[in-house]
Amino acid sequence: MSFEQIANEVARRRTFAIISHPDAGKTTLTEKLLLFSGAIQLAGTVKGKKTGKFATSDWMEIEKQRGISVASSVMQFDYREHVINLLDTPGHQDFSEDTYRVLTAVDSALMVIDAAKGVEEQTIKLLNVCRLRSTPIVTFMNKYDREVRDNLELLDEVESVLKIQCAPITWPIGMGKVFRGVYHLLNDEVMLFTPGEDKAGQDVAEVIKGIDNPRLDELFPLEIQHTRNELELVRGASHPFDLEAFLAGRQTPVFFGSAINNFGVREILNALIDWAPAPGGRDATVRSVNPDEQKFSGFVFKIQANMDPKHRDRIAFLRVCSGKFERGMKMKHLRLGRDVAANSVVTFMASSREQVEEAYAGDIIGVPNHGNIQIGDSFSEGELLAFTGIPFFAPELFRSVRIKNPLKLKQLQKGLQQLGEEGAVQVFKPLSGADMILGAVGVLQFEVVKSRLENEYGVDAIFESCSIYTARWVSSEDSRMLADFEKNLGMNLAHDATDNLTYLAPNRVNLSLTEERWPKIRFHATREHA
Ligand code: G4P
Repeated sequence: MSFEQIANEVARRRTFAIISHPDAGKTTLTEKLLLFSGAIQLAGTVKGKKTGKFATSDWMEIEKQRGISVASSVMQFDYREHVINLLDTPGHQDFSEDTYRVLTAVDSALMVIDAAKGVEEQTIKLLNVCRLRSTPIVTFMNKYDREVRDNLELLDEVESVLKIQCAPITWPIGMGKVFRGVYHLLNDEVMLFTPGEDKAGQDVAEVIKGIDNPRLDELFPLEIQHTRNELELVRGASHPFDLEAFLAGRQTPVFFGSAINNFGVREILNALIDWAPAPGGRDATVRSVNPDEQKFSGFVFKIQANMDPKHRDRIAFLRVCSGKFERGMKMKHLRLGRDVAANSVVTFMASSREQVEEAYAGDIIGVPNHGNIQIGDSFSEGELLAFTGIPFFAPELFRSVRIKNPLKLKQLQKGLQQLGEEGAVQVFKPLSGADMILGAVGVLQFEVVKSRLENEYGVDAIFESCSIYTARWVSSEDSRMLADFEKNLGMNLAHDATDNLTYLAPNRVNLSLTEERWPKIRFHATREHA
């Protein structure tokens, strides 16, 4: 394949995640994006409460409620001759590491805000994660069919709390019962709102040209006058859209609408295609990798078990970083130093899981994992490239694990090994002592692991609190010093799931004293995949 062909394929790809506080409308919007692009044909809303907090993906909820097969954390669909890869971020209240790693695999993000509530806690955390990589953000202010907060106040809150400039692209006319539509500032057009949920793939909004069009005064004089007044303020006080500032992650274009009514969705998709970046270069240990290089490469950012409970499969999600992936090709698993035949690699179409024939930078492919693949693993056609920037965070919560039935020890070890590799929890094996230690960032992770140990591995485990304050991965250039450290502090040391030496500190004071006493040992609060 020629360089141009690969470059063209890369240029027409967009890979993004939706980030939001729970209940802001992420699931609804995902479904509408799929409906809009024609990827799924069913219309209607995702009704009812989420049934269980253990759902691996919010899309599983769509699947359950709608009887369609979308269970996956990744979905690919076509829109305007572009290939869109949409990645789910876990919907847990507890901020999980998994989310961070998903965000390392995208080129942009769509932030959904419940306009009745404004900026919420989870949004702040997620945005901070995006900021680490200067990921461009498109903002959607949702739920305008309800009573929401003041528009200008909302923008002000985004700017002051999230520290990102807002450039409104559309502006709402009214809200709740008198939500009339949105005005598009760049096109000088008003799109009229008609409630309804069944607008699969079509754009039925009536458009009126010009904010001063007298038709608007005939239709809704009060609201349009209010909007005109507001727009004067907006034009004076807010920033005009600046593509460069958006791409640098300093400014976010803001759209208003109602996901449930499929209103405002087209504008978001268009913004992603017109403005969001195509897949970019990625850093590896030896060099930076360009997406349009001839040779295939990629990294694993997530492992998910039991996507289909009938087959106990585990899938490694790999983001293609360069070249062309072709079915049947040999990929080199760089950590293990051996080839993996890529025959049953799958892609995630909106309505099914299909065999991948080919994939390019930005695409996510699913590699069946029989226990050899870990988060952070890199694959290539042979070149020794280890992609960087896929971190693990030092956990903040710890539990020691025992089992009721000692005969189940093997299953417990297997379960924890697999859940550890998957990134569901961090697993530490102390150098001394038999009980394994689990580390998590959010407390809900323990509940998920306990329930999965029971359901998937048949192990009844007991989790007990333990007196560990934090963990630090340790390393040293001085191997004799490291051996000495191990000998002296063995009581506080453990190996993590990938055998990295870790210091488990009982309290803050202990940690700083130990750091002082062992100046040649380095203590790391994050670890990148080795
Ligand atoms: P999430 O994935 O971000 O957690 O949110 P989800 O899409 O599940 O939406 C959360 C609730 O908000 C859902 O209500 C959904 O119907 C509603 N919603 C989403 N978009 C809109 C919108 O544009 N307008 C209005 N009015 N509601 C919207 P639910 O699950 O049916 O019930 P409940 O949570 O309201 O009880």
